[in-house]
Amino acid sequence: MKKIGIITSGGDCGGLNAVVKGTAYMASTHNIEVFIIPNGYAGLYNLIDIENLVNLSMDRLDRFASNVAGSEAGHSRVKIKKIEDPDKYTRIKNGMKKHGIDGLVISGGDDSGSVMVDLSKNGIQCIHAPKTMDLDLQTYSVGGDSTINRIAQIVQDLKTTGRTHNRVMITEVFGRYAGHTAFRGGIAAEADCILIPEVPVDWDEVYERVKRRYCRRIVNSDVHAGTYTIVVAEGIKNADGSEIVDESAGLDAFGHKKLAGAGKFTAQQISRRMKADPDIKKFMKETGQLVPGIYEAPEVRDVVPGHIVRSGMSSAYDVSFGWEAGAGAVLLLLEGKSGLTVAGIDGQEVQYMKSEDAIKQRYVDIGQIALYESLGISFGRKVVPFKPSFREIKDKIKRIYS
Ligand code: F6P
Repeated sequence: MKKIGIITSGGDCGGLNAVVKGTAYMASTHNIEVFIIPNGYAGLYNLIDIENLVNLSMDRLDRFASNVAGSEAGHSRVKIKKIEDPDKYTRIKNGMKKHGIDGLVISGGDDSGSVMVDLSKNGIQCIHAPKTMDLDLQTYSVGGDSTINRIAQIVQDLKTTGRTHNRVMITEVFGRYAGHTAFRGGIAAEADCILIPEVPVDWDEVYERVKRRYCRRIVNSDVHAGTYTIVVAEGIKNADGSEIVDESAGLDAFGHKKLAGAGKFTAQQISRRMKADPDIKKFMKETGQLVPGIYEAPEVRDVVPGHIVRSGMSSAYDVSFGWEAGAGAVLLLLEGKSGLTVAGIDGQEVQYMKSEDAIKQRYVDIGQIALYESLGISFGRKVVPFKPSFREIKDKIKRIYS
């Protein structure tokens, strides 16, 4: 192996530049050159038409930092399988041959991973470095920790404006159909309520918990000030299992529904109930806020940070994992392996999984929800008691994100 191509694909996030650098530094140790295949699988498909690829020399690597989010290699949401070209794999192989690329390191989530499985089955040697802010793979993936930290900061910051206006503040966050980012980000910001796709939402229950805590806070405050904080995952469902999506948002290039509207829908559900509740009028009067015809019920606002949760800087955890995932991928390529996902490096051991297994969707552990319910957080359902069992651990403990 003399030359490796690095591809980053799908939705970008924190830690990707660390994967790129981990790949390049490990390759350099083994006298292998690394080239950027630009803009994800779009670049791979068009490699044959590209004249020069960027060589990640030591000087070139100095031009970007590991802890800056996004990817120096660029992204697209192109699925090779969906390209209507019967010769697409031959075209890709010819493109690789043209540039002398012997193997690929591909950093992506479940969709990009499935393409990588496909490429491997078609005789292209490639290793997967897991990335997705959604954290829904079987292994840890770069991007998760950075996103969770950003969500926590945004949700915490919104409390100042929320408390000043006595508003219920809702933050809708990316994560598709897994609630990891809303769950962990919400916990870190001490959100009062966290709504995730794994727990179908009972809106009456959400409302009762809002009313109880929000009113208590403001009644007991010496300046009658308070807010109530809700974090909503974009992929939440109603109790009957129906999805809450604004269908007008359309599809992305992978063919998935763009998820939008969960925060707005949550605001409407709470606001409607507040306006119809006679106790709320009494509460407004009791706390000196009622102005008939103008201000009769608290305001409920939704905020959608969107791409901000995966932008900016990467967390230290993601940089470390990114370096390990990139370096591990090169070492696996050197072993002649393909179709595998780097799970991490433990001591001197490169741990991996078959990519087909690694990209299977992983959801929030519902057992953990009951724990946090017992600590007072609402998850939009009737509280389920947390019934702990106890066991002495003799080996390693489970990581928080696994
Ligand atoms: O899969 C990562 C992700 O950030 C999702 O959480 C989100 O729904 C989606 O990407 C947004 O994608 P795009 O940047 O293509 O709009």
